[in-house]
Parts: sequence; structure tokens; C-alpha cells
Amino acid sequence: MSKIIIINGPNLNLLGVREKGIYGDQDFMTFFTALRESYAGVELSYFQSNHEGAIIDKIHEVGFAIDGIILNAGAYTHTSLAIADAIAAVTTPVVEVHISNVYARESYRHHSYLAKNCKGVICGFGLDGYRLALESLLTK
Ligand code: DQA
Repeated sequence: MSKIIIINGPNLNLLGVREKGIYGDQDFMTFFTALRESYAGVELSYFQSNHEGAIIDKIHEVGFAIDGIILNAGAYTHTSLAIADAIAAVTTPVVEVHISNVYARESYRHHSYLAKNCKGVICGFGLDGYRLALESLLTK
């Protein structure tokens, strides 16, 4: 059975509450529970933190043991060389996800420190981007 984790970064605990016009009105746990049910053959887990070091610790913890990491690092995407280095350090493939189309937003959201160390990037498809990332990790 494939083991995959979704890691969400800062402010993504407020999905469904935060800037609904950009991120939608669904809370993440409702979405995650439904996703896990429709992929019963996958051992899918979830971790969220607002702290850069905690995200790095989680990448180190799972990054040599599981089959895929789906990472929405939130604003750390645009600032964190340390998370980029953590992705490069581990052997598990990482798919970068953004709920919003970051390229249709402020220019400071157009650059990702993480993307070059990731298997690929999915953005602009709302929460469905996590499912698309999951599909990409399950397709060898
Ligand atoms: C985000 C986009 C980032 O620019 C922003 O800082 C977020 C969410 C997204 O999912 O669209 O927190 O990663």
C-alpha cells in the first residue's frame, strides 16, 4: 500500500474561514476525510504547521520512508531556502501544491524556492489540486 502525506504550511489551518474568495469555503479536514475515503488503497496522512522548523522536521521524519509528499508550504514557498534544502535532502518525491493560481496574484507569489527540488507543481485548481498531486504520485 502506498504511503503518502499531505503537509500544509502556515495559515492553511484556516481554510474555509480565511479569504474565502481566494481559497474557497471548505475546511480542510472535511476535504481530507473525503479524499482519504475515495483512495482507500492509499495510506494517506495529514500534517499542518504554522512553523517552518516543524515542517522541516516532518519532511526529515517521513522523507526516507514513504512514497510521496504533497506539500503546500503556503507563504514559505516564496521565502524558505531551508524548506527547499529539506526537500533536496530526502529521497521521497515531493509535489508542490497551491490552491490558488499564484501566477494570477501578486508578483512576490510568482517565485518558488521549492519548485526546482519538487517532482512537479500544481496550482490554481482549488482543493482538487491535492487530488491531482496524489494521482501524479500514484502514477509511476
Ligand atoms: C498558497 C499560495 C501562497 O502564496 C499563500 O501564501 C498561501 C496559500 C495557495 O495554496 O494558494 O498561504 O500556497
